[in-house]
Amino acid sequence: MMKGKKAITDRLISIAGRDRVLDSPASLIAYSYDATALPPAAPLCVVRPADTEQISRIVLFANEAGFPIVPRGSGTGLSGGALPTEGSVVLLTNHLNSILEIDTGNQTVTVEPGVITARLQKAVEGRGYLYPPDPGSASICTIGGNVAENSGGLRGLKYGVTRNYVMGLEVVLPTGEILTTGGKSAKDVAGYSLKDILVGSEGTLGIITRVLLKIVPKPETAGVLLVSFGSMESAAEAVSAVIAARIRPSMLEFMDRTTIRCVEEYARLGLPVGAEAMLLAEADGHPEIVDQEIAGMRAIFQRCGATTITAAADPAESDRLKIARRAAFTSLARMKPTTIMEDVAVPRAELARLIRAIEEIGKRNDVLIGTFGHAGDGNLHPNYLTDESDPDQYGRAKRTVFEVEEAAIAMGGTITGEHGVGLFKKPLLEKMTGTPAIVMMRRLKEMMDPNLVLNPGKIIDCEPRCEGRLPRSREAIREFAEVAWI
Ligand code: LAC
Ligand code: ZN
Repeated sequence: MMKGKKAITDRLISIAGRDRVLDSPASLIAYSYDATALPPAAPLCVVRPADTEQISRIVLFANEAGFPIVPRGSGTGLSGGALPTEGSVVLLTNHLNSILEIDTGNQTVTVEPGVITARLQKAVEGRGYLYPPDPGSASICTIGGNVAENSGGLRGLKYGVTRNYVMGLEVVLPTGEILTTGGKSAKDVAGYSLKDILVGSEGTLGIITRVLLKIVPKPETAGVLLVSFGSMESAAEAVSAVIAARIRPSMLEFMDRTTIRCVEEYARLGLPVGAEAMLLAEADGHPEIVDQEIAGMRAIFQRCGATTITAAADPAESDRLKIARRAAFTSLARMKPTTIMEDVAVPRAELARLIRAIEEIGKRNDVLIGTFGHAGDGNLHPNYLTDESDPDQYGRAKRTVFEVEEAAIAMGGTITGEHGVGLFKKPLLEKMTGTPAIVMMRRLKEMMDPNLVLNPGKIIDCEPRCEGRLPRSREAIREFAEVAWI
C-alpha cells in the first residue's frame, strides 16, 4: 500500500542513515532533471545508499510501500531515463565510486557503478590498457549509467559499445534480490545471458551495484585528421569510401556547418567556419598500420574534395582536435533556449540519405538543426534548436523530430542508436520494434518487477498486474547473493 512522504523518508533514514537521505527543496530541484529538454519533476526524496545491502533493503521497502525508485548516476542521460516520476524516490549510485581491481592477467577491471568513465579510462591507460567505450560525456558520466544505457560513443566503429565490454554484473533486482551474473571467463554460455538483458535496461530491470569489464591492450600509437568539406554530400561520400576501402578508423565523426560555427564560437579552436561539413578521423594501432591508414584516408578525403586537412602532430594536438567534436553538444545547447537532441541511426550505407533527409525535413518545417555524430556508425545527433515557450516554433521542432525518426525507420534504421528510449522515444518504440517485441518486453518487465517499482513508465508502459505479491524473504535474498565473481 502506498505510504505517505514522512513514513517513506523515516524508513529510508532508518535503513541508510539521516545523512544519506536528501529531502530539502534545493536537493529535490537538483535531482529533478537530466540532460534532455523534457520537463523536470521533483522526486519525493533522494537516497544515497552506502552499499548493495542497503540498496536491496530499500528496494524491498519500495515493494512493500508501493513507491517507485528512479536509479541515477550523474544524470547525463539524454532520453529521460533518470527523470523522477510522480511520487518517486531517486536512488543515487554516483558516490559508490571505487575502482576495486585492475586484473591485467585476465584483462578485466572491477568497478563500483559511480566511477566516472574518464577516470577508469585514465586508470587503465596508466597500466598499458584501453577501456574503449568513449561516450561524449565521458568526463562526467558514470560506468553504472553507461551499462544501464548501453552507451555508445566515439570509438564505436572499431571497438563497439559498452555491451561488448561488460563481462559480469552485480545488480539489485526489482524484487530486492542481489544477483550476480557473468564472470572472468572469456567464454561463457551457461544458460540465458542475464547480463545482456540487464545491459541497456535503463534502470527498469535492476540497479547496477558492481561491474566487471573487459579491457584491451592499449594501441601503441594513434593519428588524427580533422578534415573540412564544401558540401555535406562529399563528407558523407568520404565516410562510405573509407569503409569501402576496408579501413577501420577508431573514430570517424561528423559535424555540420551549424555545429562547426557553434563550436568555434564557444571553444575558439580555429575551425574553418566557412566549411559545410567536417570529419574527425582517428586511426590507432601499430605505428606502421596507423601511417598506412592515415595516408589511405588522406587520399580518400582529397579525392572526395576535402577543402582542408589538418593532421595532429602529437597526442596533445590530437586531443585539441578531438575537443572540437566533444564540445559539439555543449556548444549547440547555448544557441537557443531549448535544444532537442536526437539520436537516430541507419545502416552505414544509408548515411548520405539520412543526412539529406535531415536537411530536407528541417527546411520544410523551418527548424534550425545542428547535426553531428558517429558517421562511421551511421549514428547521427541532429539537434533541433528551438524555444519551448513559443508554441509554434516548438511544435515545428517536435514534428521534425518525429519525421526524422520515421525517415530513419524507413531506411531500416532505429529511433535511438545509443541514448536509449527512456521517456523521450517511448511514443515511437512500437512503430520501431513491432507489437510482438513490445508484448515480450512488457512480459519481461512484469515478470521481473511484479510491483513495478524500478523506473516504471520508462521504455514501455505496464499495468501493475501482480498487486499484493510480496517480494522474497531476506534469507532468500542472502542465498542469491552467495555467488560472486570476486
Ligand atoms: C555524443 C553524445 C551526445 O555523441 O552521444 O556526444
Ligand atoms: Zn553520441
